[in-house]
Amino acid sequence: MNSRCHWRGATGLNRLRGGIRAWSVSHDSRHLDQGFHFHTGRPLAHLLGYTDELLAGIPETSIESFAGTGNPFSLGELRPGYRVVDVGCGAGIDSLIAARMVAPDGEVIGIDMTPAMLEKARKAAEEAGLQSVGFRMGYAETLPIEDGWADVIISNGVLNLMPDKQAALREMARVLKPGGHIQIGDILVQKQIPEDARQKFELWTG
Ligand SMILES: C[S@@+](CC[C@H](N)C(=O)[O-])C[C@H]1O[C@@H](n2cnc3c(N)ncnc32)[C@H](O)[C@@H]1O
Repeated sequence: MNSRCHWRGATGLNRLRGGIRAWSVSHDSRHLDQGFHFHTGRPLAHLLGYTDELLAGIPETSIESFAGTGNPFSLGELRPGYRVVDVGCGAGIDSLIAARMVAPDGEVIGIDMTPAMLEKARKAAEEAGLQSVGFRMGYAETLPIEDGWADVIISNGVLNLMPDKQAALREMARVLKPGGHIQIGDILVQKQIPEDARQKFELWTG
C-alpha cells in the first residue's frame, strides 16, 4: 500500500477503524439479508475447510460471527503447550480452537480493536469452559504483548484491513520467540489494485 493511500494518516485511519468496527458488529450470519458480498458464519467455515470436528464445542455465537478469509489450522495443528496470539480474533472462533489444541499447559491471547467482538469472544470462552484463553483490547500495529512471548501467531482475515501491513508484521516478529512461526489466513492479490479501488472505503471495511 503506497503513501498516497487515504487511510494512512490519523484522520483516515480513525475513519477506517470506525467503519471496520461498525461492520464487525453487524456482519454475522443472522444479517445475511444485508447482502454482503461474501459468506460468513458456519457456511464460510465449512467452505474454508473447518471440519465439524474442529468446530465441535465452539459456541454458536463465535461461529456465527466468523469472517475469516482462510484457515490457519490448515497449515498445521498447534502443539500442546504452545503460547499463541490470535491477531484480530473477532468473536474468538480461532482462539477457542487454538486453546483446545494447546491445552492443558498452553495459553492463547486473542487481540482485537472492537469491544463488541471481545465481549462475544469472552462469553464464548466461558461458555466453552476454556480457561487457557484470554482476550485483550488492542491494535495489530501495537500489540499489547511482551517481546518474545509467543510460539505461534495466528490471524485470519485481518491483515487485508490494515493500510500499514508492515507495522503489523513487525509487531508479529517482535512478540514471537526466536524460532516461532506464523499461521495466517488472509487475502493475497497478485495483480495491481486500481487506484479508485484502493481508496474505496467500503472495500476496506467489509
Ligand atoms: C474480518 S474480521 C475477522 C475476525 C476473526 N479473525 C475471524 O476469523 O472471524 C476482522 C477483525 O479484525 C479486527 N481488526 C481489524 N483491524 C484491526 C487492527 N488494526 N487491530 C486489531 N484488530 C483489528 C476487527 O475488529 C474484526 O474483529
